[in-house]
Amino acid sequence: MSILVAGAGGQLGRELVSRGAALGVVGLDHGQWDITDPAATDRIMAEHRPRVVINAAAHTAVDKAESEPGLALAVNRDGVGHLARACSAQGAALLHLSTCYVFDGTRNTPYTEDDEPRPLNAYGRSKWEGEQLVRARLPRHLTLRVSWVFGAHGENFVRTMLRLAREGRPLRVVADQTGTPTHAGAIARALLQLAKRIQGGEELPWGTYHYPGGPATTWHGFAQAILAAAHGRGLLDSTPEVTAIDSGDYATPARRPRYSVLDGTRAREVLDLESADWRTGLQEVLSAWKDAA
Ligand SMILES: NC(=O)c1ccc[n+]([C@@H]2O[C@H](COP(=O)([O-])OP(=O)(O)OC[C@H]3O[C@@H](n4cnc5c(N)ncnc54)[C@H](OP(=O)(O)O)[C@@H]3O)[C@@H](O)[C@H]2O)c1
Repeated sequence: MSILVAGAGGQLGRELVSRGAALGVVGLDHGQWDITDPAATDRIMAEHRPRVVINAAAHTAVDKAESEPGLALAVNRDGVGHLARACSAQGAALLHLSTCYVFDGTRNTPYTEDDEPRPLNAYGRSKWEGEQLVRARLPRHLTLRVSWVFGAHGENFVRTMLRLAREGRPLRVVADQTGTPTHAGAIARALLQLAKRIQGGEELPWGTYHYPGGPATTWHGFAQAILAAAHGRGLLDSTPEVTAIDSGDYATPARRPRYSVLDGTRAREVLDLESADWRTGLQEVLSAWKDAA
C-alpha cells in the first residue's frame, strides 16, 4: 500500500519524494497526473490503491490567480474535491495543504484553527473552498495550513533574493506584512511522519491544523536574514542593504494579509508535530545550494 503524492514536481512535492523513498512514496508530477481530470484521478487511484494520498498539487501563483480565478478554482477547489471523493471511495486518507492566505490579516495575534477564514484574494478563496470540499467529502483527512513556503527546489523568495543580490540590483522589500516562512523540507518531514503513522494503522485526530515555521518576521526581515546567511556561507561576496518599503509602494494584483501568523499549538499538542524553525531550514537550503555550486 503506497503513499501517493500529487504535484510531485513542486517545491514541496520534490521534498516529499526525495525524503520519502524509504517509505515507498510514489510521486506523480503535473504531467503524469492532472488533478483537474476526474477520470485520471480515478484511474491512478485504482492503479496504485494508496493508503495515503498527499496532495502537493496546487495553483500557487497568487498574483496570476487574480486574472485566472477559474483556473485557481479548477485546481485548488474542484481538483481537490475529486481527490477527496476518490480517496473516500478507496478508503484512503488524504493529507492536504492549505495556506495562511485564507485569513484577512486584520488580527495582530496568531490565527488559530478556530478563527474564521476571510480570504482577501482569489488564491486564498480557492484554497478555502478546497478545504471545505475536503471536509465535506472525506472525514479521514488532515489539512495542514502552511505559509511563505521556501525550499531548495523551484522558485521562491530565497532564490529570488539571492538572484537579485548577485545581479547587484537595489533591494526594496515590504516590511508591513508579517508571517512565518516555512521550510518545505520541514513540512515534508511532518507529512511523512503522519503518513507513516497512518500506514501503521493509527487513526489520527483528523481535521485542520496550522503548521507554521517560526519565529514570525516580515518579508523585509526574512530578506535580511537570507542575505546575511548567504554571505556567511560564501554564496554572496557581501551582505547587501535591503530598503524597507510599504505594501502601498509595491503594487501587486493580489491583496495580501498584513498579518498571517499561524498558531501551531494544536499541531504540536494534538498531532505531536515538532515545530519548524525557518532559520534552520534556511541554513539547510543554502547548504544544499553551496554543495551544488
Ligand atoms: N508556495 C507558498 O508560498 C505556499 C504558501 C502557503 C501554502 N502553500 C501550499 O503548499 C502546497 C505546496 O506548495 P508548493 O510551494 O510546493 O507549490 P509549487 O512549488 O507551486 O508546486 C505546486 C505543484 O502543483 C502542480 N500543479 C499545478 N496544477 C496542477 C494540476 N492541475 N494537477 C497536478 N499538479 C498541478 C504544479 O505543476 P506546474 O508547475 O507544472 O503547474 C507544481 O509542480 C500547496 O497546497 C500550496 O497552496 C504554498
